[in-house]
Amino acid sequence: MNVGIIGSGGREHAITHSIKSSKNVENIYCIPGNAGTNKIAKNIEININNFDQIKSLIIEKSIDFLIIGPEKPLVDGLVDYLKDTKVKIFGPNKAASQLEGSKIFTKNLCKKYSIPTANFGVFQSSSQSKKFLEKSNYPIVIKADGLAAGKGVYICEDKNSADQAVDEIFDGKFGFAENILIEEFLDGEEMSFFIITDGVSIKKFETAQDHKRVFEGDKGKNTGGMGAYSPSRLINESLEKKIIEKIIKPTLQGLKDQNIDYVGFLYAGLMIKDNEPYLIEYNVRMGDPECQTILPKLKTELLEILLSCVEKTLDKIKISWSNEKSLCVVLCSNGYPDKYQKNVLINNLDKLDISKNNLCFHAGTISRNNKILATGGRVLNFVSLSDDFSSARKKIFENLKILNWDKGFFRKDIGYKVIDL
Ligand code: AMP
Ligand code: GLY
Repeated sequence: MNVGIIGSGGREHAITHSIKSSKNVENIYCIPGNAGTNKIAKNIEININNFDQIKSLIIEKSIDFLIIGPEKPLVDGLVDYLKDTKVKIFGPNKAASQLEGSKIFTKNLCKKYSIPTANFGVFQSSSQSKKFLEKSNYPIVIKADGLAAGKGVYICEDKNSADQAVDEIFDGKFGFAENILIEEFLDGEEMSFFIITDGVSIKKFETAQDHKRVFEGDKGKNTGGMGAYSPSRLINESLEKKIIEKIIKPTLQGLKDQNIDYVGFLYAGLMIKDNEPYLIEYNVRMGDPECQTILPKLKTELLEILLSCVEKTLDKIKISWSNEKSLCVVLCSNGYPDKYQKNVLINNLDKLDISKNNLCFHAGTISRNNKILATGGRVLNFVSLSDDFSSARKKIFENLKILNWDKGFFRKDIGYKVIDL
């Protein structure tokens, strides 16, 4: 079968790596992919916002199965757009993707189905919001409603910074804003919880802890993710049961009650306090870098799992995981998440010590004239699996040392909650 994978990040390189060895795969087309996917599959340079071109490509290359990695094409309705083609698609449709595309949609669903989450209010104007903020407790959380690549969230310590956040959002920093969300601040520890569903049954898909802030000690600006480890140190049987029963199942039921089918990964960003889960947000895809961290632990064929979701036979699949601990450290361009240089040469990639348990997934890279250049903020993902997190971290640092890329930086404390640094 011919497989298409939409996206160009570390997540998509990890997915490509996982399905590459499936016996049923003939060709893998990465749309547009990166320098890493280019080595193991065929990259096709297409703007993923151009649905017409994607459709033509599917027909031209006889793509049988399409896996959509990032949120934007899901939220923009690529699944619905391709409905009249024969391609099988892994990923939720436009209506289901509102879980990520509209924070207000999700909050209202939480309210209706008593899903534990932060108390919230929705406001339509700057003056209305600021008035509410006069009598609020701090810190408080202010969010733009739509997709903002992880950036439309402000944690405000006082009224001044809250007013500023309101102004920035209504001034259009994250696109035209009709509404703003003001939320109670949840105290606790975060966890990324993943399930996969065919719309009928659900299966858990491991846990991870992401490190979103740019600097060590969880300081500085929010990023797409600087590293992760899996499993999360917080997970246990009773917590897992609570997450499934109190959060995941009522959410999928809420969609069903609106006649919305959900096929794909569902990523619950949770705050855990005293072994109780609270939903911070949903994403309708795998996390990045959680995907790079989790997939190497998967023992069942990924392609088989994803296909079973489209065919609604997920209940027949047993998903097995290795017991090893997995750690991922993201190497970023200097300056990220603000301005950084593009087209910077990366040497030494061929010298890395790569094996089944020691991997390097590309993110913002391209290949030009047999050279590999960094083009993105997050550039490479170093992943290692081991019996313990500490050895995994050691192995990653050895590879980072071999690479010796002086145009980038990484957090040295990824996994600090599970490793004595
Ligand atoms: P989101 O894009 O909604 O995941 O938010 C980005 C980050 O902001 C989360 O990963 C949390 O670290 C933080 N955050 C969002 N909402 C809250 C909240 N209600 N309480 C505390 N932290 C939050
Ligand atoms: N790691 C955070 C995200 O994928 O949104």
